Amino acid sequence: APIDRGRFSNKTVFIMAAIGSAVGLGNIWRFPYVAYEGGGGAFILPYLVALLAAGIPLLLLDYAIGHSQRGSAPLSFARLSRRLEFIGWWQVAICVVISVYYAAILAWSVQYVGFSFTQAWGDDPEAFFFTEFLRATENEVTLDFVPAVLIPMVIIWVVAIAVMALGVQRGIGATSVVFIPVLLIAFIALVVQALALPGAIDGLQSLFAPNWAALLDPAVWASAFGQIFFSLSVGFGIMITYASYVGRKIDMTGSGLVVGFANSGFELLAGIGVFSALGFLAQASGAAVADVVADGIGLAFIAFPAIISQAPFGELLGMLFFLSLVLAGFTSLVSILEVVISAVRDKLELGRVGATLVVTVPMAIVSILLFTTTSGILVLDIADHFINRFGILLVALVAMLAVGWAVRRVPSLAEHMSRYGSLKLGRWWIVLVTIVTPALLAVMLGLELITAVSEPYGGFPGWMLAVFGWGTAAAALLAGILLSIPKWRSTTPLEAPEHD
Ligand code: PHE
Ligand code: NA
Repeated sequence: APIDRGRFSNKTVFIMAAIGSAVGLGNIWRFPYVAYEGGGGAFILPYLVALLAAGIPLLLLDYAIGHSQRGSAPLSFARLSRRLEFIGWWQVAICVVISVYYAAILAWSVQYVGFSFTQAWGDDPEAFFFTEFLRATENEVTLDFVPAVLIPMVIIWVVAIAVMALGVQRGIGATSVVFIPVLLIAFIALVVQALALPGAIDGLQSLFAPNWAALLDPAVWASAFGQIFFSLSVGFGIMITYASYVGRKIDMTGSGLVVGFANSGFELLAGIGVFSALGFLAQASGAAVADVVADGIGLAFIAFPAIISQAPFGELLGMLFFLSLVLAGFTSLVSILEVVISAVRDKLELGRVGATLVVTVPMAIVSILLFTTTSGILVLDIADHFINRFGILLVALVAMLAVGWAVRRVPSLAEHMSRYGSLKLGRWWIVLVTIVTPALLAVMLGLELITAVSEPYGGFPGWMLAVFGWGTAAAALLAGILLSIPKWRSTTPLEAPEHD
């Protein structure tokens, strides 16, 4: 008999897990900056267009594929057509790349929860982060391990492996059901504390002051779409995998709307919290808000420590901030790991624990070798930049074109989703996912490609960009093609089962 793939026990658990995946570092440290740069209050327009015209429709396409085909990404695509299986494995390979470095950011965040109490960074958070904490080297790859990163990294992997081994409901589902409410409470507490800081209003004014001229800049529109794709975790296998664990009669379209709006709500909340804190930092250091804004690593590990040192009850603020990063990041990490485990399980018909170990132990080793050494942050920076652009965006485009045009399955997927869905997917959805969204994605990718070729990223040496950037993105595609060659077991039906 085919393996028991596991399932979420009800709709709420699925929604929590999907929100857990969507709400991640991108909401907290990427959105506020993207919105600020993209016209502040005026950014609401491109953002809503991207959410409604591309993000949610694509999220629903992912749901439709996984929920109707009832398989991991490779199995679901193979069931649509054996020729499309490579897309699923390509997504799996991308998830492998992302998880190995995502875990490192979580490990740093765990350390910084503690540092918030000791204020280990003294009065120079930047020097502390790069030199003392990471002992970062320049432009070389080393095998010098940094114990302060290695130890939390091992802990993150052990916990992640335990969660994954517990399975879909008792592992992923249970973690999300606990972590997401705790995250929401911690983050609201953070926002309240940040709003009470002197200067918070200036920060909010900088964030929300509308710059309407930004709407004429195509780059702003591209960044809105990029943010939405990344933020909703669409197009790289996660939502296909999670949807395959949901009962047949569950309202998937309604669930998709809940997940999409919850994710955006969390982004708005993060914008308010982050810019209140930045407003305080500007006032405390006698600078303009524009001079202190930051995103990503710079925001979390340089600007926030400076805020924490100067704010009243800074320890609390720091604890809430880094705890939020850990909780949001961990549920996202779990979701990408599941893409890989689920695929290997389906293909080899392995048990839950066996598949978990086969997949995660080698990944943990690679993750530790590459990212707990003094060159970890370099490799991370490059891999993250390229896989987001020439991995996630590209595979999403190929998947949409394949399902929409090569096998022409979008109308039947619409029918599937509308059967039990509270929102009915009519012609509008078919037009969006077969024409509008792919066209928009293609334009964005073209723009990204031009930028990547004309101005090499971050001033890194060419060989590093070639190996960890272009090479990694290309290797993911190649791995996808190669992994799709082996045949399925005769016990695995290559058409969607009629019952769960
Ligand atoms: N949606 C996540 C975010 O906003 C992105 C992500 C999910 C990245 C899962 C990796 C893995 O941060
Ligand atoms: Na998100």
